[in-house]
Amino acid sequence: MPARARTRLTAEVTDFSHHSGAFADRPIEMLAELRERGPVTWSTAHDGFWVVTDHRDVIDGLADYGRFSSGFGPAIPANPFGTRHIPVGIDPPAHTTYRRVLNGWFGKAEVNRREPEIRALVEEIVKGLRERGSWDFVTDLAEVSPGAVTLGILGWDASRRVELLDVMARGLRNAAATDPGTVARNEAGDRWIREQILAEAAERRAHPREDLMTVLATDPIIDGAPMSDEEVSDTVVFLLLAGFHTTSGALTALLVHLARDPQLRARLDADRRLVPEAIEEIVRIHAPVTALARRVTEDTELGGVAMTRGDWALFVNLAANHDPAAFPDPQTVDLDRNRAKSVAFGWGVHRCMGLHLARLILRVEVEAVLDLLPDFEIDLGRTVRSRHLGIGWFYDAVPARLPVSPSVATPGSRA
Ligand code: HEM
Repeated sequence: MPARARTRLTAEVTDFSHHSGAFADRPIEMLAELRERGPVTWSTAHDGFWVVTDHRDVIDGLADYGRFSSGFGPAIPANPFGTRHIPVGIDPPAHTTYRRVLNGWFGKAEVNRREPEIRALVEEIVKGLRERGSWDFVTDLAEVSPGAVTLGILGWDASRRVELLDVMARGLRNAAATDPGTVARNEAGDRWIREQILAEAAERRAHPREDLMTVLATDPIIDGAPMSDEEVSDTVVFLLLAGFHTTSGALTALLVHLARDPQLRARLDADRRLVPEAIEEIVRIHAPVTALARRVTEDTELGGVAMTRGDWALFVNLAANHDPAAFPDPQTVDLDRNRAKSVAFGWGVHRCMGLHLARLILRVEVEAVLDLLPDFEIDLGRTVRSRHLGIGWFYDAVPARLPVSPSVATPGSRA
Protein backbone atom coordinates (compact mmCIF):
# COMPACT_ATOMS: atom_id res chain seq x y z
CA MET A 1 0.00 0.00 0.00
CA PRO A 2 1.51 3.40 -0.95
CA ALA A 3 2.54 5.52 2.01
CA ARG A 4 0.06 8.30 2.63
CA ALA A 5 1.32 11.83 2.84
CA ARG A 6 1.05 12.64 6.51
CA THR A 7 1.67 16.31 6.66
CA ARG A 8 -1.49 17.81 8.15
CA LEU A 9 -0.88 17.64 11.86
CA THR A 10 -3.66 19.95 12.91
CA ALA A 11 -7.20 18.66 13.00
CA GLU A 12 -10.67 19.89 12.13
CA VAL A 13 -12.60 20.59 15.33
CA THR A 14 -16.29 19.76 15.86
CA ASP A 15 -18.63 19.18 18.79
CA PHE A 16 -19.73 15.76 17.49
CA SER A 17 -21.26 13.49 20.13
CA HIS A 18 -22.13 9.88 19.41
CA HIS A 19 -24.60 10.13 22.31
CA SER A 20 -26.59 13.00 20.77
CA GLY A 21 -30.10 12.76 19.36
CA ALA A 22 -28.83 14.47 16.19
CA PHE A 23 -26.46 11.54 15.61
CA ALA A 24 -29.21 8.97 16.29
CA ASP A 25 -31.37 10.74 13.68
CA ARG A 26 -28.86 10.52 10.81
CA PRO A 27 -25.78 8.51 11.81
CA ILE A 28 -24.54 7.54 8.36
CA GLU A 29 -24.89 11.06 6.99
CA MET A 30 -23.17 12.68 9.98
CA LEU A 31 -20.27 10.25 9.77
CA ALA A 32 -19.87 10.96 6.04
CA GLU A 33 -19.81 14.70 6.80
CA LEU A 34 -17.15 14.13 9.45
CA ARG A 35 -15.05 12.01 7.07
CA GLU A 36 -15.32 14.81 4.50
CA ARG A 37 -13.75 17.18 7.04
CA GLY A 38 -10.90 14.78 7.71
CA PRO A 39 -10.20 11.11 8.39
CA VAL A 40 -9.49 12.01 12.01
CA THR A 41 -11.22 15.00 13.60
CA TRP A 42 -11.23 16.37 17.14
CA SER A 43 -14.51 16.61 19.04
CA THR A 44 -14.85 18.92 22.01
CA ALA A 45 -17.71 16.79 23.45
CA HIS A 46 -17.19 14.52 26.51
CA ASP A 47 -13.99 16.39 27.54
CA GLY A 48 -12.53 15.93 24.06
CA PHE A 49 -11.72 12.92 21.89
CA TRP A 50 -10.49 11.99 18.44
CA VAL A 51 -13.08 10.69 15.96
CA VAL A 52 -11.63 8.27 13.39
CA THR A 53 -13.95 7.76 10.43
CA ASP A 54 -11.98 6.46 7.45
CA HIS A 55 -11.52 2.75 6.94
CA ARG A 56 -7.75 2.72 6.69
CA ASP A 57 -7.15 4.63 9.92
CA VAL A 58 -9.79 2.61 11.80
CA ILE A 59 -8.01 -0.61 10.81
CA ASP A 60 -4.55 0.81 11.51
CA GLY A 61 -5.59 2.04 14.95
CA LEU A 62 -7.51 -1.05 16.05
CA ALA A 63 -4.63 -3.28 14.95
CA ASP A 64 -2.16 -1.32 17.08
CA TYR A 65 -2.97 -2.12 20.72
CA GLY A 66 0.46 -0.81 21.73
CA ARG A 67 -0.44 2.76 20.74
CA PHE A 68 -4.21 2.51 21.29
CA SER A 69 -5.06 0.78 24.55
CA SER A 70 -8.32 -0.98 25.48
CA GLY A 71 -7.33 -0.85 29.14
CA PHE A 72 -9.77 1.94 30.01
CA GLY A 73 -12.78 0.21 28.46
CA PRO A 74 -14.37 0.38 25.03
CA ALA A 75 -16.60 3.44 25.54
CA ILE A 76 -16.46 7.25 25.77
CA PRO A 77 -17.33 8.46 28.38
CA ALA A 78 -15.47 5.61 30.06
CA ASN A 79 -17.25 2.32 30.61
CA PRO A 80 -20.95 2.99 31.26
CA PHE A 81 -21.12 -0.05 33.50
CA GLY A 82 -18.46 1.34 35.79
CA THR A 83 -16.45 -1.87 35.88
CA ARG A 84 -13.65 -3.57 34.00
CA HIS A 85 -14.72 -6.07 31.36
CA ILE A 86 -12.70 -9.17 30.48
CA PRO A 87 -11.37 -9.72 27.83
CA VAL A 88 -12.46 -6.55 26.02
CA GLY A 89 -10.95 -4.09 28.51
CA ILE A 90 -7.54 -5.74 28.83
CA ASP A 91 -4.47 -5.35 26.60
CA PRO A 92 -2.03 -8.15 25.73
CA PRO A 93 -0.26 -10.01 27.23
CA ALA A 94 -2.98 -10.58 29.92
CA HIS A 95 -5.63 -10.39 27.18
CA THR A 96 -4.04 -13.36 25.41
CA THR A 97 -4.26 -15.45 28.59
CA TYR A 98 -7.95 -14.74 29.17
CA ARG A 99 -8.82 -15.13 25.52
CA ARG A 100 -7.05 -18.50 25.31
CA VAL A 101 -9.36 -19.85 28.01
CA LEU A 102 -12.49 -18.60 26.28
CA ASN A 103 -11.61 -19.20 22.62
CA GLY A 104 -12.32 -22.94 22.55
CA TRP A 105 -15.82 -22.45 23.94
CA PHE A 106 -16.72 -19.96 21.23
CA GLY A 107 -14.64 -21.42 18.35
CA LYS A 108 -16.21 -22.58 15.11
CA ALA A 109 -16.08 -26.31 15.90
CA GLU A 110 -17.68 -25.94 19.34
CA VAL A 111 -20.33 -23.59 18.01
CA ASN A 112 -21.18 -25.94 15.12
CA ARG A 113 -21.47 -28.81 17.59
CA ARG A 114 -24.16 -26.82 19.37
CA GLU A 115 -26.20 -26.12 16.23
CA PRO A 116 -28.90 -28.76 16.92
CA GLU A 117 -29.61 -27.41 20.43
CA ILE A 118 -29.57 -23.79 19.17
CA ARG A 119 -31.92 -24.72 16.32
CA ALA A 120 -34.29 -26.48 18.74
CA LEU A 121 -34.34 -23.42 21.04
CA VAL A 122 -34.92 -20.95 18.19
CA GLU A 123 -37.59 -23.07 16.50
CA GLU A 124 -39.48 -23.44 19.77
CA ILE A 125 -39.50 -19.65 20.17
CA VAL A 126 -40.53 -19.05 16.54
CA LYS A 127 -43.33 -21.65 16.70
CA GLY A 128 -44.59 -19.76 19.77
CA LEU A 129 -44.70 -16.56 17.68
CA ARG A 130 -46.65 -18.37 14.96
CA GLU A 131 -49.24 -19.47 17.49
CA ARG A 132 -49.59 -15.96 18.83
CA GLY A 133 -50.08 -14.43 15.39
CA SER A 134 -48.47 -11.12 16.34
CA TRP A 135 -45.31 -10.32 18.25
CA ASP A 136 -42.32 -7.98 18.50
CA PHE A 137 -39.17 -9.31 16.85
CA VAL A 138 -36.95 -7.42 19.33
CA THR A 139 -38.29 -8.64 22.64
CA ASP A 140 -39.84 -11.92 21.52
CA LEU A 141 -37.03 -13.37 19.42
CA ALA A 142 -33.90 -11.25 18.84
CA GLU A 143 -33.15 -10.53 22.49
CA VAL A 144 -33.93 -14.02 23.69
CA SER A 145 -31.74 -16.45 21.75
CA PRO A 146 -28.17 -15.05 22.19
CA GLY A 147 -28.46 -14.76 25.97
CA ALA A 148 -30.02 -18.19 26.25
CA VAL A 149 -27.22 -19.76 24.18
CA THR A 150 -24.49 -18.04 26.21
CA LEU A 151 -26.14 -19.29 29.41
CA GLY A 152 -26.07 -22.80 27.91
CA ILE A 153 -22.31 -22.53 27.22
CA LEU A 154 -21.70 -21.26 30.74
CA GLY A 155 -23.78 -24.15 32.05
CA TRP A 156 -26.39 -22.06 33.82
CA ASP A 157 -29.97 -23.20 34.18
CA ALA A 158 -31.75 -21.99 31.02
CA SER A 159 -34.84 -21.10 33.03
CA ARG A 160 -32.86 -18.20 34.58
CA ARG A 161 -32.72 -16.56 31.16
CA VAL A 162 -35.73 -14.30 31.61
CA GLU A 163 -34.83 -12.78 35.00
CA LEU A 164 -31.17 -12.25 34.06
CA LEU A 165 -31.86 -10.75 30.66
CA ASP A 166 -34.55 -8.56 32.15
CA VAL A 167 -32.15 -6.96 34.62
CA MET A 168 -29.44 -6.58 31.98
CA ALA A 169 -31.80 -5.10 29.39
CA ARG A 170 -32.95 -2.54 31.96
CA GLY A 171 -29.31 -1.70 32.79
CA LEU A 172 -28.40 -1.24 29.13
CA ARG A 173 -31.49 0.81 28.35
CA ASN A 174 -30.72 3.15 31.24
CA ALA A 175 -26.92 3.17 30.89
CA ALA A 176 -26.82 6.89 30.10
CA ALA A 177 -29.37 7.84 32.80
CA THR A 178 -28.33 10.40 35.38
CA ASP A 179 -31.32 10.64 37.72
CA PRO A 180 -30.39 9.18 41.12
CA GLY A 181 -33.30 6.70 41.27
CA THR A 182 -32.40 5.05 37.94
CA VAL A 183 -28.68 5.08 38.72
CA ALA A 184 -29.38 3.38 42.06
CA ARG A 185 -31.60 0.77 40.37
CA ASN A 186 -28.87 0.11 37.80
CA GLU A 187 -26.30 -0.34 40.54
CA ALA A 188 -28.60 -2.70 42.44
CA GLY A 189 -29.16 -4.71 39.23
CA ASP A 190 -25.40 -4.88 38.62
CA ARG A 191 -24.80 -6.06 42.21
CA TRP A 192 -27.53 -8.68 41.89
CA ILE A 193 -26.04 -10.10 38.66
CA ARG A 194 -22.60 -10.29 40.26
CA GLU A 195 -24.07 -12.12 43.27
CA GLN A 196 -25.66 -14.66 40.92
CA ILE A 197 -22.32 -15.16 39.15
CA LEU A 198 -20.41 -15.69 42.40
CA ALA A 199 -23.05 -18.14 43.65
CA GLU A 200 -22.68 -20.14 40.40
CA ALA A 201 -18.87 -20.04 40.77
CA ALA A 202 -19.04 -21.27 44.39
CA GLU A 203 -21.38 -24.07 43.32
CA ARG A 204 -18.92 -25.20 40.59
CA ARG A 205 -16.01 -25.18 43.04
CA ALA A 206 -18.01 -27.55 45.24
CA HIS A 207 -19.44 -29.61 42.36
CA PRO A 208 -17.41 -29.24 39.13
CA ARG A 209 -19.22 -29.90 35.85
CA GLU A 210 -18.42 -29.98 32.14
CA ASP A 211 -19.16 -26.31 31.50
CA LEU A 212 -17.43 -22.98 30.99
CA MET A 213 -18.48 -21.77 34.45
CA THR A 214 -16.49 -24.61 36.03
CA VAL A 215 -13.42 -23.72 33.94
CA LEU A 216 -13.64 -20.04 34.92
CA ALA A 217 -14.16 -20.86 38.62
CA THR A 218 -11.58 -23.62 39.04
CA ASP A 219 -8.95 -23.89 36.27
CA PRO A 220 -5.44 -22.57 36.95
CA ILE A 221 -5.59 -19.69 34.49
CA ILE A 222 -3.39 -16.88 35.80
CA ASP A 223 0.13 -17.91 36.85
CA GLY A 224 -1.09 -21.35 37.93
CA ALA A 225 -3.94 -19.98 40.05
CA PRO A 226 -7.69 -19.83 39.34
CA MET A 227 -9.27 -16.47 38.54
CA SER A 228 -10.30 -14.28 41.47
CA ASP A 229 -14.02 -13.77 42.14
CA GLU A 230 -13.69 -10.33 40.58
CA GLU A 231 -12.13 -11.71 37.40
CA VAL A 232 -14.79 -14.42 37.08
CA SER A 233 -17.48 -11.81 37.54
CA ASP A 234 -15.89 -9.32 35.07
CA THR A 235 -15.70 -12.10 32.48
CA VAL A 236 -19.21 -13.51 32.87
CA VAL A 237 -20.89 -10.08 32.94
CA PHE A 238 -19.20 -9.24 29.65
CA LEU A 239 -20.03 -12.60 28.06
CA LEU A 240 -23.68 -12.10 28.92
CA LEU A 241 -23.65 -8.52 27.65
CA ALA A 242 -21.53 -8.97 24.54
CA GLY A 243 -23.83 -11.06 22.45
CA PHE A 244 -27.11 -9.68 23.62
CA HIS A 245 -28.06 -6.38 21.95
CA THR A 246 -25.45 -6.91 19.22
CA THR A 247 -26.93 -10.08 17.76
CA SER A 248 -30.40 -8.71 18.38
CA GLY A 249 -29.55 -5.52 16.45
CA ALA A 250 -28.24 -7.55 13.54
CA LEU A 251 -31.31 -9.81 13.30
CA THR A 252 -33.82 -6.98 13.47
CA ALA A 253 -31.89 -4.87 10.94
CA LEU A 254 -31.97 -7.82 8.54
CA LEU A 255 -35.68 -8.57 9.05
CA VAL A 256 -36.63 -4.91 8.61
CA HIS A 257 -34.49 -4.78 5.50
CA LEU A 258 -36.23 -7.87 4.09
CA ALA A 259 -39.61 -6.27 4.76
CA ARG A 260 -38.49 -3.29 2.66
CA ASP A 261 -36.78 -5.32 -0.04
CA PRO A 262 -39.12 -8.06 -1.33
CA GLN A 263 -36.64 -8.98 -4.07
CA LEU A 264 -33.93 -9.87 -1.58
CA ARG A 265 -36.49 -11.72 0.55
CA ALA A 266 -37.52 -13.78 -2.50
CA ARG A 267 -33.86 -14.53 -3.28
CA LEU A 268 -33.21 -15.79 0.25
CA ASP A 269 -36.43 -17.79 0.18
CA ALA A 270 -35.38 -19.44 -3.06
CA ASP A 271 -31.77 -20.08 -2.04
CA ARG A 272 -30.95 -20.46 1.65
CA ARG A 273 -27.23 -20.54 0.84
CA LEU A 274 -27.46 -16.76 0.44
CA VAL A 275 -28.55 -16.25 4.06
CA PRO A 276 -24.99 -16.05 5.51
CA GLU A 277 -24.00 -13.51 2.84
CA ALA A 278 -27.07 -11.40 3.59
CA ILE A 279 -26.30 -11.50 7.31
CA GLU A 280 -22.72 -10.39 6.74
CA GLU A 281 -23.76 -7.56 4.41
CA ILE A 282 -26.46 -6.26 6.76
CA VAL A 283 -24.06 -6.44 9.71
CA ARG A 284 -21.55 -4.43 7.66
CA ILE A 285 -24.12 -1.75 6.82
CA HIS A 286 -25.91 -1.59 10.18
CA ALA A 287 -22.89 -2.38 12.40
CA PRO A 288 -24.65 -3.04 15.73
CA VAL A 289 -21.41 -2.07 17.52
CA THR A 290 -20.91 1.34 15.99
CA ALA A 291 -17.66 2.49 17.59
CA LEU A 292 -14.79 1.34 19.80
CA ALA A 293 -12.91 3.60 22.17
CA ARG A 294 -9.18 3.43 22.90
CA ARG A 295 -6.70 5.52 24.95
CA VAL A 296 -3.59 6.84 23.22
CA THR A 297 -0.51 5.48 25.04
CA GLU A 298 2.22 7.69 23.49
CA ASP A 299 2.50 10.93 21.56
CA THR A 300 1.78 9.77 18.04
CA GLU A 301 0.15 10.51 14.72
CA LEU A 302 -2.80 8.95 12.92
CA GLY A 303 -4.61 10.11 9.78
CA GLY A 304 -2.44 13.18 9.57
CA VAL A 305 -3.12 14.54 13.05
CA ALA A 306 -0.87 14.69 16.10
CA MET A 307 -2.22 12.85 19.13
CA THR A 308 -1.04 13.16 22.71
CA ARG A 309 -0.53 10.41 25.27
CA GLY A 310 -3.70 10.06 27.36
CA ASP A 311 -6.08 11.28 24.61
CA TRP A 312 -9.21 9.28 23.93
CA ALA A 313 -9.87 8.10 20.37
CA LEU A 314 -13.15 6.75 19.02
CA PHE A 315 -12.72 4.32 16.14
CA VAL A 316 -16.06 4.46 14.37
CA ASN A 317 -16.42 1.11 12.65
CA LEU A 318 -19.85 2.09 11.31
CA ALA A 319 -18.13 4.96 9.48
CA ALA A 320 -15.32 2.70 8.23
CA ASN A 321 -17.88 0.28 6.81
CA HIS A 322 -19.45 3.17 4.89
CA ASP A 323 -16.17 4.53 3.57
CA PRO A 324 -16.56 4.45 -0.24
CA ALA A 325 -12.80 3.99 -0.56
CA ALA A 326 -13.18 0.56 1.07
CA PHE A 327 -16.71 -0.39 -0.01
CA PRO A 328 -17.90 1.18 -3.27
CA ASP A 329 -21.54 2.31 -3.10
CA PRO A 330 -21.43 1.45 0.61
CA GLN A 331 -25.13 1.73 1.45
CA THR A 332 -26.20 -0.76 -1.22
CA VAL A 333 -26.80 -4.36 -0.16
CA ASP A 334 -24.58 -6.33 -2.52
CA LEU A 335 -24.30 -10.00 -1.62
CA ASP A 336 -21.41 -10.48 -4.04
CA ARG A 337 -19.11 -7.72 -2.80
CA ASN A 338 -15.79 -8.41 -1.10
CA ARG A 339 -16.33 -7.59 2.56
CA ALA A 340 -13.30 -9.33 4.06
CA LYS A 341 -12.31 -6.00 5.58
CA SER A 342 -15.66 -5.22 7.17
CA VAL A 343 -14.96 -4.03 10.70
CA ALA A 344 -18.44 -4.78 12.06
CA PHE A 345 -16.91 -7.43 14.33
CA GLY A 346 -13.92 -5.23 15.16
CA TRP A 347 -10.30 -5.67 14.07
CA GLY A 348 -7.06 -6.78 15.69
CA VAL A 349 -6.65 -8.75 18.90
CA HIS A 350 -10.10 -7.82 20.26
CA ARG A 351 -11.95 -8.91 17.10
CA CYS A 352 -15.25 -10.37 18.26
CA MET A 353 -14.76 -13.66 20.03
CA GLY A 354 -18.44 -14.52 19.57
CA LEU A 355 -18.60 -14.02 15.84
CA HIS A 356 -19.02 -17.71 14.96
CA LEU A 357 -21.77 -17.96 17.53
CA ALA A 358 -23.42 -14.73 16.32
CA ARG A 359 -23.31 -15.92 12.71
CA LEU A 360 -24.79 -19.29 13.63
CA ILE A 361 -27.57 -17.86 15.82
CA LEU A 362 -28.44 -15.32 13.12
CA ARG A 363 -28.50 -17.94 10.36
CA VAL A 364 -30.68 -20.30 12.39
CA GLU A 365 -33.01 -17.44 13.34
CA VAL A 366 -33.40 -16.22 9.76
CA GLU A 367 -33.96 -19.76 8.48
CA ALA A 368 -36.58 -20.41 11.19
CA VAL A 369 -38.39 -17.16 10.38
CA LEU A 370 -38.39 -17.88 6.62
CA ASP A 371 -39.51 -21.50 7.17
CA LEU A 372 -42.03 -21.12 9.97
CA LEU A 373 -43.32 -17.57 9.42
CA PRO A 374 -43.10 -17.39 5.60
CA ASP A 375 -45.73 -14.64 5.30
CA PHE A 376 -44.56 -12.52 8.22
CA GLU A 377 -45.32 -8.82 7.89
CA ILE A 378 -43.47 -6.10 9.76
CA ASP A 379 -45.44 -2.99 10.61
CA LEU A 380 -42.82 -0.66 9.18
CA GLY A 381 -44.67 2.43 10.40
CA ARG A 382 -44.29 1.25 14.01
CA THR A 383 -40.67 0.08 14.06
CA VAL A 384 -38.60 2.14 16.49
CA ARG A 385 -34.87 2.75 16.08
CA SER A 386 -33.20 3.50 19.43
CA ARG A 387 -33.08 7.24 20.09
CA HIS A 388 -29.61 6.87 21.53
CA LEU A 389 -26.63 5.32 19.77
CA GLY A 390 -23.50 5.75 21.85
CA ILE A 391 -21.52 2.73 20.75
CA GLY A 392 -24.45 0.53 19.64
CA TRP A 393 -27.16 0.76 16.96
CA PHE A 394 -30.35 -1.20 17.62
CA TYR A 395 -34.08 -1.34 17.17
CA ASP A 396 -36.26 -0.86 20.24
CA ALA A 397 -39.36 -2.25 18.55
CA VAL A 398 -40.10 -4.27 15.41
CA PRO A 399 -43.79 -5.23 15.60
CA ALA A 400 -44.78 -8.04 13.27
CA ARG A 401 -47.64 -10.42 12.56
CA LEU A 402 -48.93 -13.09 10.26
CA PRO A 403 -51.51 -11.99 7.73
CA VAL A 404 -55.05 -12.52 8.96
CA SER A 405 -56.66 -15.24 6.86
CA PRO A 406 -59.53 -13.75 4.76
CA SER A 407 -61.89 -16.51 5.92
CA VAL A 408 -61.60 -15.45 9.58
CA ALA A 409 -60.93 -11.76 9.09
CA THR A 410 -63.51 -9.32 10.35
CA PRO A 411 -63.94 -5.95 8.67
CA GLY A 412 -61.25 -3.57 9.85
CA SER A 413 -59.30 -6.28 11.69
CA ARG A 414 -56.10 -5.49 9.75
CA ALA A 415 -56.32 -1.74 10.11
C1 HEM B 1 -23.77 -9.47 15.41
C2 HEM B 1 -23.34 -9.69 16.65
C3 HEM B 1 -22.07 -9.13 17.22
C4 HEM B 1 -21.34 -8.03 16.85
C5 HEM B 1 -21.65 -7.04 15.72
C6 HEM B 1 -20.20 -7.96 17.72
C7 HEM B 1 -19.22 -6.99 17.64
C8 HEM B 1 -18.07 -6.97 18.39
C9 HEM B 1 -17.02 -6.00 18.26
C10 HEM B 1 -17.01 -4.83 17.29
C11 HEM B 1 -16.04 -6.33 19.15
C12 HEM B 1 -14.70 -5.61 19.33
C13 HEM B 1 -14.63 -4.81 20.61
C14 HEM B 1 -13.34 -4.00 20.73
O1 HEM B 1 -12.46 -4.09 19.87
O2 HEM B 1 -13.22 -3.21 21.68
C15 HEM B 1 -16.48 -7.50 19.86
C16 HEM B 1 -15.77 -8.13 20.85
C17 HEM B 1 -16.27 -9.21 21.55
N1 HEM B 1 -17.43 -9.90 21.34
FE1 HEM B 1 -18.79 -9.53 19.91
N2 HEM B 1 -20.24 -9.00 18.59
C18 HEM B 1 -21.36 -9.75 18.33
C19 HEM B 1 -21.78 -10.89 18.98
C20 HEM B 1 -21.14 -11.50 20.01
C21 HEM B 1 -21.57 -12.70 20.70
C22 HEM B 1 -22.80 -13.54 20.35
C23 HEM B 1 -20.67 -12.95 21.68
C24 HEM B 1 -20.74 -14.12 22.62
C25 HEM B 1 -20.64 -14.08 23.87
C26 HEM B 1 -19.65 -11.92 21.60
C27 HEM B 1 -18.53 -11.84 22.41
C28 HEM B 1 -17.52 -10.91 22.26
C29 HEM B 1 -16.34 -10.89 23.12
C30 HEM B 1 -16.05 -11.81 24.28
C31 HEM B 1 -15.56 -9.81 22.67
C32 HEM B 1 -14.24 -9.33 23.26
C33 HEM B 1 -13.11 -9.96 22.49
C34 HEM B 1 -11.77 -9.52 23.01
O3 HEM B 1 -11.67 -8.51 23.70
O4 HEM B 1 -10.79 -10.22 22.70
N3 HEM B 1 -19.95 -11.06 20.59
N4 HEM B 1 -17.72 -7.88 19.37
